[in-house]
Formats: sequence, C-alpha cells, structure tokens
Amino acid sequence: MISYEKEELYHSVENKEIISQLKKQISQCPWRQKFHIQPETGLLNDPNGFAFYRGEYHLFYQWFPLGPVHGIKYWYHVKSKDLVNWENIGVGIKPDHYYDNYGAYSGSGITHNGNLYLMYTGNHRDELMSRKPMQALAIMKPDGSIEKLPEPVIKKVPEGYTEHFRDPKVWRENENFYAVIGAQRQNKTGCVVLYHSLNLLNWTFLGEIETSLNNFGYMWECPDYFELNDQGVLVFSPQGLQPKGSKYQNIYQTGYLIGDVLDLEELKMSHGEFKELDHGFDFYAPQSMEDDRGRRILVGWMGLGEQAYPTDKFGWAHCLTLPRELKIINNHLYQIPVSELKSLRKDEQTFASTVTGVVDFSRGTHYELVCEFTQIQADEVGVNLRVGDGEKTVIKYMVDEQKIILDRSQAGEEVGLEYGTTREIPFNQESLKLQIFMDTSSIEVFINGGEYVMTSRIFPRNNANTIQVFTTNGSTKVEMKKWDY
Ligand code: FRU
Repeated sequence: MISYEKEELYHSVENKEIISQLKKQISQCPWRQKFHIQPETGLLNDPNGFAFYRGEYHLFYQWFPLGPVHGIKYWYHVKSKDLVNWENIGVGIKPDHYYDNYGAYSGSGITHNGNLYLMYTGNHRDELMSRKPMQALAIMKPDGSIEKLPEPVIKKVPEGYTEHFRDPKVWRENENFYAVIGAQRQNKTGCVVLYHSLNLLNWTFLGEIETSLNNFGYMWECPDYFELNDQGVLVFSPQGLQPKGSKYQNIYQTGYLIGDVLDLEELKMSHGEFKELDHGFDFYAPQSMEDDRGRRILVGWMGLGEQAYPTDKFGWAHCLTLPRELKIINNHLYQIPVSELKSLRKDEQTFASTVTGVVDFSRGTHYELVCEFTQIQADEVGVNLRVGDGEKTVIKYMVDEQKIILDRSQAGEEVGLEYGTTREIPFNQESLKLQIFMDTSSIEVFINGGEYVMTSRIFPRNNANTIQVFTTNGSTKVEMKKWDY
C-alpha cells in the first residue's frame, strides 16, 4: 500500500518504485484519455501558469503524483505550439521551501523581462499545523529552468481575511502589474482582493474589489480578471452556493461577472448577474490567458474536489478541458473550442435527413460530432452517444419544457450520484446546433456556437460506441458531421 506520510511525499517524484507501481495500475485503466491533458500518475486539478512564452503555450497543473488524492501539491509542466499536441515536461514547481511546505498551490504566469514569472500560493503550515498562506514567485528562464525565490513576495494575509487566501492571477496594464487573489472575509463570506506591483517582486495591497455579491458563498477560489471588447470580466469559483432551480447543481460552482472595466481607483466593478461558465457535471477553477494573436483562451479542470471518480482505483484522477476561445456577445461569454482542434479531424462522415424516431448514424469513442437540428416539430430531439449494453449518454432538447438536458444516468460506471444524474439549461430557440467532443471518458458539448457549454466525465464500459440521433413524438431536420479523433 502506498502511504501518504509527509516525509515520503517530499521524495515522491524521485521514488521510482511507487511511480512504476502506479503506472502499471494505470496501464490497466480503460478510461485513459486520448486528446486531453491528463496526469501520468496521481491526481490533477487546477490549470496554473497558463501563458504564451517565446512562441509556445505553457501550461501547468496542480498535481499530486502518488495517487488520486489531494496530497501535497506540485506544479506539473506541459507545453505546446498549437494548443492540441502537448508535451509533458515534468515537475515545474516542487513544494520544497518553508513557504510552500504543504503544497505549491494555484497561481498564474506572466512574461516579463524575457522570462516567465509564475506567481502562486505557498500553502504554508506552521508547527501547529495552522495554515499561513504566502504568495510565492518562481521564474522560468528561456532555457526552461525554473527557480523559486528564497522568500515569498506576499508573506501575510491582510487584516479582515481568514487563512483561505490564495490563487493569485496576475495581469499587466502598461507599466503596472495587478493580481487578484481569492479570499474569505472574517465573516466567512467569499470575495476577491487586489494587489499592485511595478516589478512583480514588491506588492502592495490595494483592497477588496467591490461587487454586488456581498454574501455569495464562503470562499471564492481561483479568480481571473481580464478585459474583452472594452468590458471587464471577473471569473471565479465560489464555494458554498445552494442549488437554485437548475443552477448550482455541482458541489462547487464556477462563473463570471461581465461589466464595466474594473475601476482601479475605486476598486469597483459594476456588473450584470453571475452566470455559470459551464453547465455540465465536471468543471472547476478555470484559468485564461491572452496569446500572441490577441485571443483570450480558457482551460478548466474537468473535475471537482471531494468526490470519488471511477479512475481512482487505477491510481489517477482528472484531466483538463479542451482550450476554448472566449468572446463576449450581448453581455454573455461565448466559449468556442480553439480552431486548431480541427487538425485532429480524420475520416469525415456526414448525414442529412428528416428524422422521426431513432436512427443509428455512426460509431466511435473518440470524435468530434456536429449536429444541427432545424424545423423541429417534436417533443424532444437529441443524440444518444456511447450506446451499447444498456448504456448511453443522452443530450436532448425538450421542446415543451424549454430546456436542454445532459443525462449521464446510464452513461456507464456511476459517479457523483449524490449530485444527481442530469444537468439542464433553460433553452427556447428555433434551431439547435451541438458541437460535441468525445474522448474515452469525457464529453464536452458546445451549444449554438458556444453560447452554452456542458462538460462532463463519463465512464462507459466495454464497447459502448453507437451514435444515434432521435426524436420523440415528431420529426426534425438534421445535418450531422463527424470526424474521428
Ligand atoms: C481549487 C483549489 C485552489 C488551490 C488548489 C489546491 O481547486 O482548491 O484554491 O490553490 O485547488 O490544489
């Protein structure tokens, strides 16, 4: 049995025996992904340090190497020239200083002076095990070497906030650097605070960002602020929201506020309602970056904490989502899978017809599928995916009830049952376009050009691979295209 005692953890990545034992277990796993970023062993969570640096996309993730548990976190480093083919580089940041002795927690990356600066939270615990978060800095040089500063750049939590104070996201504005940090007020409500720096080394606390959400969950994790089309967008992952109708169904949520650009003098952001970024079962703690073409690209963790997953027994857990380009249309964030993904398309298959009832279209376990439903004259239209042996994953538009449903109740091995087996989006439009990315154990559904997204893990067994299109009580026109991946 693997033990997670602390002494051992420090030497874990070098512990070839434990790692090779885990790799053997993982090689038996039927749910390894084909085109998503996943850990070679152990547990992955938040994307970190996402940046475009010297012609390449660099991305790190929260990583515990020794098993599918939230142990002491490392940063694992991957990079890519095209956001599609990722190279595993290895450990980026090790929790080997006093200030990160219980984990190199989440943070972000920014280029400066020819280097990539990585600012993150050192999850420091003192002798009494009390948590004292510190914000730390590591610098990656052009040769790829990463060096941590001997001391943190922000040592203390400002007055008024608890020890839940983490996940700095840095951006540049002219000569200034700003960082948002996720925080919990002393009264146990969540918020975001702002820091300023001229050199990324010395930081000044500016204060809390005022929004209209004063009592909105007990902690806001992984904040991200950026501007698009002259509007400000604040993304964060609040914990502690109660389910409300079809909203907030997962254990923790992720969403955004769109409004005027952040007022850096008054520390205010006027904004519209909080909207969830994703309507699937498994999405959390996303992070965005701007690339050399000016695109704002977002990647999320396709998983959630405090939940068991079927891959646990094979020694690993979770993956990242596909990268999505963000656009604002009518005060709504659209998420569009990056166009580079098209390079994975092989063997196009098409279908165009009026459908009544259930029609088998194709088969597959790794593909992109685009379905356009028009002239909908039925109670329900949709697709059944990964169908076989009593299993299926269903996406359907229930026309009368004006909603889109993702149903994983029969998708395969069960997961997260205590949070239900369906997710829904209120929807009432004349036509429906689904762009679906299917990997071995995940599905990402982009609806009507990225207006809504549903991201979920699924764990089909055996050869569940049939693709069907269907209607209930009526007919619809359908055009489908599928490419193997
Ligand atoms: C979000 C989070 C962050 C923290 C990290 C630790 O999933 O809890 O707030 O920095 O994960 O792995």
